[in-house]
Amino acid sequence: MASKLAINGGQKTIEDDRAKYVWPRITQEAEDAVVNQLHKSISIYDRSGIFGEFEDAFASYHGKKLAILSNSGTSAIFSMFEAIGLMPGDEVIAPVYTFHATVSPLMYTGAVPVFADCDDQGSISFEEIKTKLTDKTKAVIVTHMWGIPVKDIALISDWCASKNIYLLEDCSHAHGARIHDRPVGAFGSAAAWSIQGPKTITGGEGGVFLTDDSKLFNRALLQGHYNKRPKNEIPSSDMEARYYLTGLGLKLRAHPLAVALAAQQFKHLEEFIAQRQTYAEAFTNAFERYPFLKTPQTISTGTQSSWYAYVLQYDEQRSFGVSRQEFADALTAEGLVEVDIPGSTGLINELPLFISPNEIMPRLYKNPLPLQGPFPNAEKFHSGIIKLPVWGFQDESSVVESYIEGIAKVSDYLMANHSLK
Ligand SMILES: Cc1ncc(COP(=O)(O)O)c(C=O)c1O
Repeated sequence: MASKLAINGGQKTIEDDRAKYVWPRITQEAEDAVVNQLHKSISIYDRSGIFGEFEDAFASYHGKKLAILSNSGTSAIFSMFEAIGLMPGDEVIAPVYTFHATVSPLMYTGAVPVFADCDDQGSISFEEIKTKLTDKTKAVIVTHMWGIPVKDIALISDWCASKNIYLLEDCSHAHGARIHDRPVGAFGSAAAWSIQGPKTITGGEGGVFLTDDSKLFNRALLQGHYNKRPKNEIPSSDMEARYYLTGLGLKLRAHPLAVALAAQQFKHLEEFIAQRQTYAEAFTNAFERYPFLKTPQTISTGTQSSWYAYVLQYDEQRSFGVSRQEFADALTAEGLVEVDIPGSTGLINELPLFISPNEIMPRLYKNPLPLQGPFPNAEKFHSGIIKLPVWGFQDESSVVESYIEGIAKVSDYLMANHSLK
């Protein structure tokens, strides 16, 4: 007999204040890292101190040579688009299902996003990418959605090389995710990470750009930095060197306190991922028995997600007429306050910036861009998603157990009664 649901007046599975997800954890070590930096420097003009330390460690982890910290992930993505020298009218194949900032900085170049549908994990599909290639295609950008590496990233990388186009990676969800020991961010011509707010490695705000290509590096550096950094880091024989004093007119520099926190977090990346893996497996073991819940699939034994989130697909064809929202409401009533139906991350093809850039940026776009679509896989994925956080610490196991218990309680009830009433 399934027990009475909280939504029907039964007892809650967990009290709300215990059910919160807190990230990052501000340990003594984190506090010390920030306070030490506060006493050292709160503005760094070159690559000294914590900037160089973090950039070197981050680049070496990814097997890359050149890194640039910036003030946001959006800026780091912007630098990728600038680095490859996009011109108005160039096309960039991009995921339709992502956070808008994977694509929005592109609109400062006058280039055109060509959206591609996703696969059943929510990441851009290689098959779709291939159908979008034209003689104007200059690049493909991918997002490793919710921390799971894009399934065919190695094939996409080879294909881009064979077509002589750039592959750019938005790794903002996927710090430390990898396929067969090759981390995401190591497959493309350049890669970008957000280190904002709840990201696995976070400084509160910030971003990182990585590449092996010194030409891309020069342009990316000039875009957000002036004077010391370009002067010190762009060889004087390179064409870009003479612009060192102004850069390209913007300042996208990171804040040292943010970087101090991110650097401290980065030391624990492997521990976070290992702990999250344990909890993600516990979720999957508990949920895969329910026909209306599809658990995330890591695509082969060699694939490691960063578990930025645990994304369930709720199948309304198999849920006895109970909608995703009703199911999620029942979970929230159980006290599972972190259960989320994502809003700002979704299909981006109909956003005004991508169909009417001519009205807001007439200097770059003379005409509206055609509305692209439909994107049936992304529609399906977006309309089925129920997102859970994946906790990163061993002492949070009882919270994780309560989430499992609450979801099992509601699911068992639904199986037994074919209704939540
Ligand atoms: C996939 C993705 N790309 C880019 C960004 C932008 O990063 P930021 O907020 O640091 O500018 C985010 C932020 O959430 C993101 O989720």
